[in-house]
Order: sequence, then structure tokens, then C-alpha cells
Amino acid sequence: MSTVITGWGKCVPPGVLSNDDIAEFLDTSDEWIRTRTGIHERRISHVDVSELAYVAACRALAAAGLEPDDIDGIILTSASPELIIPNTASRLQEKLGVKGIAAMDINSGCCGFVYSMAVAHGLISTGTHKRMLIVGAERLSFFIDWTQRDSAVLFGDGAGAAIVEAGPEGEGLLAAELGCEAEAGRALMIPDFGSGMDRWTLDAGRLELLFDGQEIFKRAVRAMCTLSHSVLDDAGLTLEDVDLLIPHQANLRIIESVGKRLGFAERPDQVFSNLHRYGNTSAASIPLALVEALEQGRVKPGDLILFPAFGAGLTRAAMLMRWGQRVDPISVSPVELPPCELSARELIQPSLEFARQAPAGS
Ligand code: ACO
Repeated sequence: MSTVITGWGKCVPPGVLSNDDIAEFLDTSDEWIRTRTGIHERRISHVDVSELAYVAACRALAAAGLEPDDIDGIILTSASPELIIPNTASRLQEKLGVKGIAAMDINSGCCGFVYSMAVAHGLISTGTHKRMLIVGAERLSFFIDWTQRDSAVLFGDGAGAAIVEAGPEGEGLLAAELGCEAEAGRALMIPDFGSGMDRWTLDAGRLELLFDGQEIFKRAVRAMCTLSHSVLDDAGLTLEDVDLLIPHQANLRIIESVGKRLGFAERPDQVFSNLHRYGNTSAASIPLALVEALEQGRVKPGDLILFPAFGAGLTRAAMLMRWGQRVDPISVSPVELPPCELSARELIQPSLEFARQAPAGS
């Protein structure tokens, strides 16, 4: 028995923030951002995380030919949960109108989807659950300090969802490796948000983002390559067997370095990237990339797909999947996000003004 994906769906908010938009208020340029990161634009959400997750979930359910009542558990993975109490998975359960089923959040940064697949596999393979919904959903624009040019240009909002259930041996999740380099966690940290914050002496709205891009970059390349080899060894397969590499979308230079080290330099068409359109959407990045790879016909029946990831924690993960025969959705959901009257630039204006008035660390 294995755990297979039978439905998939995405939700990206309509607000597009281009590099040129950012260059209007930050000392940066489209040329710098494109050449150092590969990012051209990102999405800014006008709705909460559970709403992004809801639309992606409805689309994944439709792609699997299912109704909300057909699932018996929800895993929502996010680094930007809507609330701390209760979890965002329970908000999603309510929106889906399904009662009583398990609802949990997993926060493992950009590795969240791979972590969630491994957890779902454990629950399904022991018979605890039969069919689960996994959603990676992020509203990272909430955390962005629009005066901090090294990190502000990197992130975006969005969601990707998958329906997972038991499938035939040899298909679905073949191997997964999870880890965390906690000793370097301060390379990407928001220290003053959560129950550990000094709520009575700090301005609760003034969030500082600790960020060491070069440290993350080095560790990401190393870990994504090491764990890719591990999952292939676990499955008794080699890099030559891999049909498609879908890495976490953080920086095109990270993706290219990983691809080169894993031998994809000669076959770049087998490396998937949609980073230029969405930036780094953390836990949503891998499911969003998987959904778009399917939409673009890049996933063929029986393909072996390798998913390496790295993120806040600093978490690391990789999984290897053998895709099944079906690469088309069974049906399409009519559910859409509510319309938004504001542009992405207008959506971030209050946050930009706040950051200018109350610089982080002041
Ligand atoms: N525009 C213009 N100049 C900038 C910008 C910007 N947006 N940001 C930084 N610079 C400047 C710096 O100030 C520096 O100037 P200096 O030489 O005068 O001091 C110069 O550009 C070079 O800065 P570096 O930090 O060396 O640039 P680098 O090539 O390392 O790229 C980047 C920085 C893009 C952040 C890169 O390190 C990176 O992508 N790291 C991965 C980080 C990441 O994605 N983290 C997200 C979560 S974890 C994950 O998803 C894997």
C-alpha cells in the first residue's frame, strides 16, 4: 500500500506586485531582483489564509471527483497561519462545511508540504485515516517589512492543495526524509511574534524579520542535494530515473545550483520552476508548482518526481513520488475568491506606511 495524490488544486490571489512596483518605494530594481533571484512578480492576497486554502481545497476535491464529506482529515501547512488559536485547519473545515473530522496545522516553513505528505502517509498507512486533504497556504505579505529590501522582494502569497489516499504499491509516495538544522534557525526568524514575545513592553505590531540570505542559500543547496540522494537510495532508484525535479521555489539560483549538482544541467526541461510569477510562497510553493506542472502537461503518467525543500527552522526535506495514470482533473470547481477592488500596490500601502513610521528594532 502507498499514499497517492488523487486531486490537486491551487489558488493565487489576483493582486500582482511587480519588481518595478517595489522599486517605486525601495532602493532596488527589476534588474537586481531578476538576476539575483529569478523573481519577476509575486501575488498579494486580499483575503485570509483559510480563504486561499478553501479555494485551493475546493479545486483539489473537484479534481479528485469528491465532495468535502469524502475526506476524513485536514492538514493545513503554513508559516503564516491566520490565527494562533484556533488552528487554520479548523477554519478551513468550517468553510468546507464538513463536521467532526481531524484538523491540524503543521508549521515547517517551506518544507511544510513534504512534512505533511509524510504525516498523511503515516496516518493512512496505519489505517487511522482513509483520505486526507493537505493544503499549503500562505499570506507571507502580512510579515513583510517593506523597508527591508533583502527580504521584501522574495516572498508572495498563494495556496496549493492535494487529496491523498491509499493507492497501489509502487505508486505515490516512495520515500521521504525530514530534518531540521535548528542551530541555524536565527537565519530566518521573526522573534517577536507569538507567546514568546514581550507583549507588554513591545509594540505588538512591529515585527522584526531576522534574515541571513547567504547562510540560507548555502545550507539550502547542500541539504536539498543530500536529501535528494537519501530518498533515491531509500527507494533503490537513481537520479537518471527521475523524470521531473520540482524543488521548493525560493531563488532561481538555488534551483539551478541544486539542478546542476544533481545532474540536471543537461536536461533543464526536467526541472520545474514557476518562481518568476509567484516568488517564494513557502509551504504553498511545492503544491503550487506541482499543480502548475500538471496543468502545463509537464507530468506524464508514471513519472518519477523528486521534491527537495528547505525553509525556516531551518527545516529540510525531500520526497520521491511515482505519479499514477491520471494527469487530468475529474472535474473543475466553480469556486472563486471574492473580487478585489484594490491593486497589489494599494494592498501593501498601509503596511509600508506602518514600517516607515515604526522601523523594526527601534
Ligand atoms: N536590491 C538591490 N540590492 C540589494 C537587494 C535588493 N533587493 N538586496 C540586497 N541588496 C544588496 C546588498 O545590500 C548587498 O550590497 P553591498 O554589496 O553593497 O553590501 C548586495 O546587494 C549583495 O547582497 P547579497 O546578500 O550578497 O546578495 P546575494 O547574491 O546573496 O542575494 C538573496 C541575496 C537573494 C537574499 C540570496 O541570498 C537568497 O536568495 N538567499 C535565499 C534566501 C531565501 O529565499 N530565504 C527564504 C526562506 S528559506 C528558503 O526558502 C530556502
